[in-house]
Amino acid sequence: MIRDTEALSSEEKDCLQESVNSKDILGIIETHNGKLGGLMAILGDIQTEYGYLPEQALRMAADETGCSLVDLYGVATFYHSFRLEPQGKHRVCICLGTACHVRGAATIVEEFERQLGIKVGQTTSDGEFTLETVNCLGACAIGPIVTVDGHYFSKVDITKVKSILEKVPDLKKVPAGLLQNEEAKAAVSG
Ligand code: FES
Repeated sequence: MIRDTEALSSEEKDCLQESVNSKDILGIIETHNGKLGGLMAILGDIQTEYGYLPEQALRMAADETGCSLVDLYGVATFYHSFRLEPQGKHRVCICLGTACHVRGAATIVEEFERQLGIKVGQTTSDGEFTLETVNCLGACAIGPIVTVDGHYFSKVDITKVKSILEKVPDLKKVPAGLLQNEEAKAAVSG
């Protein structure tokens, strides 16, 4: 089952609504409203606070800034960095840039989708994983590249997908950015 706002029950939606702190949102809006680039800063700060842009927060931003809700959704959907749905605890990102693509990245995407039971852009129903793709992570020579919460896995193929997912609970033991194959295996398992 996929977790998206359309599929949420009314109780879950109420719960999400309650999780938005009106005072915090108003503070963010007040800080940036009317300034150059203020709208982007408001959306950016709201997302930093909540991990995504809750509908209630967007409605408040529309009321306070005088922008229409449609315009705010337009900005939020135009920029890839903004999210309109709650994200999973762990973010799995597969590079689909040219260098990774020619080495089979599309099959890796399919394998992650199969093992997690979700499609790219979706979050597992337990809220653990969000699956995403990106166009280049700047490590083309050692692709295909997969990142999990900012940790890099190089030369990934479909046989490694299961072990990457199994490793996720231990990733917090090593600094983000390290290559998580042979280089960091000892650190993670130790
Ligand atoms: S294309 Fe994948 S890291 Fe550049």
